[in-house]
Amino acid sequence: GKSSKTVWVCSDCGYDDGQWWGICKQCNGVNTMKRFSEGIERPTSGFEVTENVTRSWLPHQSVKAMPTKLTDVNKGINQLNWRIPMSGLFGAEVGRVLGGGLVPGCLVLVGGDPGVGKSTLLLQIAAIVAEGCDMGGPAPVLYVSGEESVEQIGNRADRMRIGTDELFLYASTDIEDILEKAQTLSLRALIIDSIQTVYLRGVTGSAGGLSQVKECTEALLRFAKKTNIPVFLIGHVTKSGEIAGPRVLEHIVDVVLYMEGEKYSSHRLLRSVKNRFGSTDELGVFEMSQSGLQAVSNPSEMFLSEQQSDSEFLAGLAVAVIMDGSRAFLIEIQALCVAGSSVSRQVNGVQAGRAEMIISVLIKQAGLKLQENGIFLNVVSGVSLSETAGDLAVAAAICSSFLEFPLPVGIAFIGEIGLGGEIRTVPRMDKRINTVAKLGYKKCIIPKSAETSMAALDLGDTEIVACRNLKEMINIVF
Ligand code: TYD
Ligand code: MG
Repeated sequence: GKSSKTVWVCSDCGYDDGQWWGICKQCNGVNTMKRFSEGIERPTSGFEVTENVTRSWLPHQSVKAMPTKLTDVNKGINQLNWRIPMSGLFGAEVGRVLGGGLVPGCLVLVGGDPGVGKSTLLLQIAAIVAEGCDMGGPAPVLYVSGEESVEQIGNRADRMRIGTDELFLYASTDIEDILEKAQTLSLRALIIDSIQTVYLRGVTGSAGGLSQVKECTEALLRFAKKTNIPVFLIGHVTKSGEIAGPRVLEHIVDVVLYMEGEKYSSHRLLRSVKNRFGSTDELGVFEMSQSGLQAVSNPSEMFLSEQQSDSEFLAGLAVAVIMDGSRAFLIEIQALCVAGSSVSRQVNGVQAGRAEMIISVLIKQAGLKLQENGIFLNVVSGVSLSETAGDLAVAAAICSSFLEFPLPVGIAFIGEIGLGGEIRTVPRMDKRINTVAKLGYKKCIIPKSAETSMAALDLGDTEIVACRNLKEMINIVF
């Protein structure tokens, strides 16, 4: 309706109230409640329905859909072409992470820290999809940026030696405008860089705010489903590790990929954490070069070359496998045992009580004479170890330093330690071991009790060594 009822709407989360509040009751935002007159500035409730097609992708439209007979659903779709293959080394790696290629009409979110290489990745994906080597020849792909000008993207493409004829660039932040332009080209794919910069006219809140991010994503989802054009969305990740704004975004889209990398390394990992059309255990490995991202087809080589240069001080270093949400990560635990010196214990990134317990078990159950040692523990790169799954790596790092025996390169440890020195299994063993294998590690030490459940996994060249207790682990590894 077009009443002039006044409402206050939170510009961050979209919460509305008939009354002004200094603090938003939903998200606790301060001074975020803004005044709106319903039906005027907030047309989501009083939309003029026009004949413009783009309108049907905008929010809150009643779509006159009818139930469809199952036998009619797949008519017209050639099942063999359901997935768009992606060719070449780079394309194959991306295609694998996507679960076997690109599904028509899917909405893919690519998240990652600023600067990790999301724009670079998507520009390369745009190029190979546009070239369409095994997709029936070239077809238009539109790369829309709300962050960079067309010239900036063009310069980057030049440096990466991308000269695809069918690649279109467009700088815009207005979803309605973007979708209007998109439907004038018969697109094979649409890329939006990034979801935090686009906005939908008539939706309250600024670009990047929860309601904008959510409404824009939903509009893009409707666009993808209606046109069968795959849409890629780039999303920046906040410090807390979530894709900025809402977790809700992950629920709307079909596929969620995360791009990860470390500042001092040129390697980038692309991981699928959600996929409505395929497995989420996929992990792609790339290297950032002068001319963009290159697929690393043999990750074990990358792993070795990185570690061997540091091999002089590997004593006291062990690799643990921890989970963050549904993702498995490899982290390095450092230990330093100093005989004779004042018997101090310093831990950083490991819970002090847990460390004390592991040290005591090593003394009592594995016979290590650690009593006269100062022991320092550190988790590399500032992560904190909150899982017992890291116990075994902590113990291995301490043994390695105490025995002055560097662990062989390419070995990872998974397991919880009990007071009797026994090694216990931990949750998500399959996810953890999969990651270890995908990254090309040579050996993975796991609890004996987890051994049988590993039979079904495809572990490539990674050797699994199952141990009952600490003594057994020390005998095998050292
Ligand atoms: P970018 O894709 O802009 O990151 P994001 O979109 O995730 O913020 O990439 C950022 C970094 O990548 C930048 O520091 C430069 C580097 N880079 C290369 O090393 N080689 C290249 O070919 C390109 C295009 C970028
Ligand atoms: Mg970018």
